[in-house]
Amino acid sequence: MNAPAIKTAAPKSFRIKSYGCQMNVYDGERMADLLTAEGMAATPDGDEAELVVLNTCHIREKAAEKVYSEIGRLRRADGSRPMIAVAGCVAQAEGAEIVRRARQVGVVVGPQAYHRLPELVAEAATGRVGIDTDLPALAKFGRLPARRRSGPSAFLTVQEGCDKFCTYCVVPYTRGAEVSRGWSAILDEARALVDGGAKEITLVGQNVNAWTGEDEAGRAQGLDGLIRALDRLPGLHRIRYTTSHPNDMTDGLIAAHGDVERLMPFLHLPVQAGSDRILKAMNRSHDARSYLAVIDRVRRVRPDIAISGDFIVDFPGETDADFEATLSLVDQIGHAQAYSFKYSPRAGTPAATMADQVPDAVADERLKRLQALIAAQQAAFNRGTVGRRTDALLERPGKRPGQHIGKSPWLQSVVVDGGAIGDLMPVEIVAAGPVSVTGAAVPID
Ligand code: SAH
Ligand code: SF4
Ligand code: F3S
Repeated sequence: MNAPAIKTAAPKSFRIKSYGCQMNVYDGERMADLLTAEGMAATPDGDEAELVVLNTCHIREKAAEKVYSEIGRLRRADGSRPMIAVAGCVAQAEGAEIVRRARQVGVVVGPQAYHRLPELVAEAATGRVGIDTDLPALAKFGRLPARRRSGPSAFLTVQEGCDKFCTYCVVPYTRGAEVSRGWSAILDEARALVDGGAKEITLVGQNVNAWTGEDEAGRAQGLDGLIRALDRLPGLHRIRYTTSHPNDMTDGLIAAHGDVERLMPFLHLPVQAGSDRILKAMNRSHDARSYLAVIDRVRRVRPDIAISGDFIVDFPGETDADFEATLSLVDQIGHAQAYSFKYSPRAGTPAATMADQVPDAVADERLKRLQALIAAQQAAFNRGTVGRRTDALLERPGKRPGQHIGKSPWLQSVVVDGGAIGDLMPVEIVAAGPVSVTGAAVPID
């Protein structure tokens, strides 16, 4: 049942804009690989593309609204519109609605179906909207071209989907059930990324630490096994993983933080709230104490680990006392960084219809207090690293000529003079700001 689209010529150039999480960044890169393999050219920044792919995120209300306004704005200098493909989680959640609300959209493709993007684009060029929002687990991976070039730091999706069903969250509906990619496919892709220039690989998944599989010898493995296999990969210097669920922090994974040298001292482990009553209503299946116990165990094996997290303020029914419990939890953790969001009711999730939705004015005030506390912790963490000798993986140019911005092992942004993109530059951290540090090159001894 394909609606009529605006007939356009088959596009020869494309631009992909990704919103949302690291999985979407990864998917955006793979869609670019696919379109390039079809002979289409990625447009340099500022140039007009004949096809614009909006790789969308559905996690909060404003995210979807931004997509609709972006669709409305996309116009070429001569007034014509590029072909628009909506991909990602908004496409999955609102496929039919998008076609109804935004007639200029030619393609709607969900996160598990984008291996079909070239066919759908061809269909749109004939004047019919190309839609595919099926959720076939893992089908796409076997259909994507091999990875060739990579930046110094690459994402590699190893796990997708979520079975946790937190009551506020759309991800189980937009990404489908938890599935793990196979061991060899992951290691092959990691090798290709390193051959293509990657020095750091971040394993990504909605619940990446729920990854399970079997190695070449048929032995059952968890994420720690995969990390240890990557640790033996020549040419790879740094390993990271994100995002994790507190309940899937296995003994093996915690131990890996203590003895796998290439595993970076950084852990993004969302907790969401500090009140057990709210955590229960969120269906998080952990409480504040068990969360702190995990952090404590990781710190025991890796004392310098940088902790990051996600917080939601003003979940339905959150009282002042509940919110104070979140502040107190944050106080006990001491973050290197963290994200915090105002609760956004999402249609179809259980929390959206819960009683006692918190008024906006209260929400804004609480969010401000939480963010101030997190910002103070981040600044303190950064100050605490001044004087350390470490290395920075340079990823992009800085503001001033000759300057570069890289990442420290603790995922701080490090601003350095000199070096080149892709360098793993030995530095001493000489100054700290609220969201970055300054590194000075040190001679290699
Ligand atoms: N799988 C990860 C994160 C998924 S989404 C995890 O469980 O931790 C990223 C973050 O968005 C979540 O950690 C949560 O803090 C936030 N988030 C998800 N749904 C939200 C909603 N309805 N309103 C506000 N924030 C939300
Ligand atoms: Fe969403 Fe919860 Fe799953 Fe994370 S664990 S993706 S917050 S449902
Ligand atoms: Fe957003 Fe989908 Fe990721 S909703 S956070 S892009 S899984």
